[in-house]
Amino acid sequence: MMLFDTIIRPFLARLDPETAHRLTIRALKSGFGPTAADQDDPRLAIRVLGMEFPNPIGLAAGFDKNAEVYGPMGRIGLGFVEVGSITPLAQPGNPRPRLFRLPADRAVINRMGFNNDGAETARMNLERRGDRSKPGAIVGVNLGKNKTSEDAAADYGTGTAKLSEFADYLVVNVSSPNTPGLRALQSTDELLRIIEAVKAAKKPGLSGVLPPVLVKVAPDLTDEDIADLSAFALTGQEHGLVDGLIVSNTTITRPDDLKDKAVAGEAGGLSGRPLFARSTEVLRDFYRRTEGRVPLVGVGGVSSGADAYAKIRAGASLVQLYTALAYDGPALVATIKRDLLAAMVSDGFTRIGSAVGADHR
Ligand SMILES: Cc1cc2nc3c(=O)[nH]c(=O)nc-3n(C[C@H](O)[C@H](O)[C@H](O)COP(=O)(O)O)c2cc1C
Repeated sequence: MMLFDTIIRPFLARLDPETAHRLTIRALKSGFGPTAADQDDPRLAIRVLGMEFPNPIGLAAGFDKNAEVYGPMGRIGLGFVEVGSITPLAQPGNPRPRLFRLPADRAVINRMGFNNDGAETARMNLERRGDRSKPGAIVGVNLGKNKTSEDAAADYGTGTAKLSEFADYLVVNVSSPNTPGLRALQSTDELLRIIEAVKAAKKPGLSGVLPPVLVKVAPDLTDEDIADLSAFALTGQEHGLVDGLIVSNTTITRPDDLKDKAVAGEAGGLSGRPLFARSTEVLRDFYRRTEGRVPLVGVGGVSSGADAYAKIRAGASLVQLYTALAYDGPALVATIKRDLLAAMVSDGFTRIGSAVGADHR
């Protein structure tokens, strides 16, 4: 990990961010990824969505869009890795530049637009998971729709049919801001059609059971949206349609106090530190409205053990991150886990699951 801090990170930081990302993926594919030193402390293990996670810290969608590096990313010490978003057909995404750093804010703005190689390529990459002698990390598969597709439900159904066999969980992503009309699919009518298509297309995964389905939502929801989606998740759970929510995707809002003013005006979704407060409040609201009965994944601006712990206390059973990893590199994962453990122990918890939703009690 030292090598990353002293040589690789300063080098990558000077490159255009998309080139840096491409080189990172290539290095990971070539076996240059670091390997976590320690086994996870058993107090960080958590059972949720019918699976045993060795620790609650995962990689958010968008880093490994084509399911190329879930193995190496698991080995840096993450408890789970989410690949995608994957659309049925390959598509190029928006014209470049489409990824912008805001270093003074520890943030990123992206308008990638679901650039990916399509479900067939992702399936070939995920087929390597078939070798059960090498179990590896828990892998979630995040599904999107093609930009030009007129039938959203059919796209999510196709993604499910092609990929669910290799997924430990599936994500219906209806919250990326860079595909026109996508976020309108968060209305409960639209969502029901999509989820029914997913349910009809699901096949048992590698462990022999049907993978759970989570819906990923935006942080830019109104109170009414949150109330509707909470009710939807509660009834969806009773009917075996929805198993959890991921809160949240990037925001199209721009907090007033952003420092990198020159870049702040770029169109797209903002992630990283400025997203933390809003995404955590929305998470808290979902937990309250679903009375802790629907598993929640907290994501948005996590860059420390304290941030991860705050998401868990607000109601997250699992936590994800992306932007902070791009700034701080893979050693951040061990730091987050160490500080998360210390925080829960100092509050008197003997396992992380007991801290979930602690703020509400
Ligand atoms: C460059 C980039 C690409 C992303 N692509 C996706 C995507 O394809 N699907 C998705 O559900 N979320 C995507 N996200 C959103 C992240 O998964 C996450 O929800 C968001 O960045 C907030 O977490 P963070 O502040 O830790 O980065 C992307 C984020 C970034 C920065």
